Amino acid sequence: MDDNENLASRLAEKLPAEILALLRVASAEAAARAWRIYLVGGTVRDIVLDRTGFDLDLSVEGDAIGLANAIAASPNDVTVHHRFNTARVKWGGHHIDLARSREETYTRPGALPTVRPGHIEKDLFRRDFTINAMAVSLNLNDWGRLIDELGGRKDIRQGLIRVIHPKSFVDDATRIWRAVRYEQRLGFCIEPETLKLIDRDRQMLRTITADRLRYELDCILREAFPEKVFRRADDLGLLATWHPSLKGDTWLSEACAKARSPTETPHPDIYLALLAWRLTASQKEEFIASLRFTKAQTRVLRDSETISRNAEKLASPQAKPSSVFAALHGLSGDALTAAKCAMGSDTARLNIDRFENEWRRISSILTGEDLKRLGVSQGPDLKWVLEKLRDLRLDGVISSRGQEETFVLDWLNCKP
Ligand code: CTP
Repeated sequence: MDDNENLASRLAEKLPAEILALLRVASAEAAARAWRIYLVGGTVRDIVLDRTGFDLDLSVEGDAIGLANAIAASPNDVTVHHRFNTARVKWGGHHIDLARSREETYTRPGALPTVRPGHIEKDLFRRDFTINAMAVSLNLNDWGRLIDELGGRKDIRQGLIRVIHPKSFVDDATRIWRAVRYEQRLGFCIEPETLKLIDRDRQMLRTITADRLRYELDCILREAFPEKVFRRADDLGLLATWHPSLKGDTWLSEACAKARSPTETPHPDIYLALLAWRLTASQKEEFIASLRFTKAQTRVLRDSETISRNAEKLASPQAKPSSVFAALHGLSGDALTAAKCAMGSDTARLNIDRFENEWRRISSILTGEDLKRLGVSQGPDLKWVLEKLRDLRLDGVISSRGQEETFVLDWLNCKP
């Protein structure tokens, strides 16, 4: 790659034709208003790396919201954030984020920045790492020109994650998590000075709100190999900032690897459940409170606790199907999948599999109406009899309609 590289042919090769067409429209609309626009952020990094990624970010030296409205097929396709002068345009199955090129100042660590319009060079300088601070001109006179004043390509060649200035993590400590995530995703190394800054500024993570921290965790959970990020984060003392008892060790790596199959990407909540699997019930609650997990995430974490609590029962070769049913009924599928990856016992795994594939669908042959006709009164009795019949069927004690009726009639006779 030479220094005055033009990436026009790479853009044409890497981006889907409809995206390229949209960029051409954006370019013409911007030119008509004497604004300049640039492709920035992760897509530029990925194009230079010869990877593909279509989450496009455009930086506009002009009114980003105005440009978004000009290029969108319909006003309904535009979502606007006036505070930051940014807009998202839906386009086919893709989306494009537009932001006014800006300078940023941070009033206090961890706070969102104060922004003011600035040229593309300033806009690149405010970014996290050199590899994310390149831009490609989408302007008619130099379409495809790569702007790389901060050494992004050199760092890509050398496989380095490097901050742009020493106050980067003080301005925004979430970048510490981003550094580890990119390092592990790309198989790069955090450059030594940046590593020292992580060590120096790690405590700044305390200035970050729970929602922003959780966002970073969510991003990690969506990585192809989140366990690599957890392992490195543990080495750097970062996992402990979420909860002191979390571990990013071999156990976690193996459990996460088990969750993957060649054809399926696990739901991120499965990785979350595995990360938290070895926390005690009260530690899980502390973790839930500290990162303010969503309802669905909280449910998976609590359900995995329920399964851990029943681990012995599930691992027992004598466990009756009805008791496995009682232990697992109503729990989230992601917690069950995580349990199969986390539990050492083959019997437990088999019991969970059988619950998922057969037992959870079993119910009594007699319906509530049938029971009422036989004389069972509506209410708790009816519920109890339905569940009892299901359990007897699950355990193979009874298997026909006639046997169920006999059981019900005997029960009614014996009832005080
Ligand atoms: N950025 C930053 N500091 C942050 C977050 C983002 O400087 N704390 C900048 C980076 O230049 C980044 C761009 O904003 O490239 C877009 O951010 P984001 O969409 O989060 O990341 P991508 O680089 O697109 O990476 P990914 O592949 O993870 O989506």
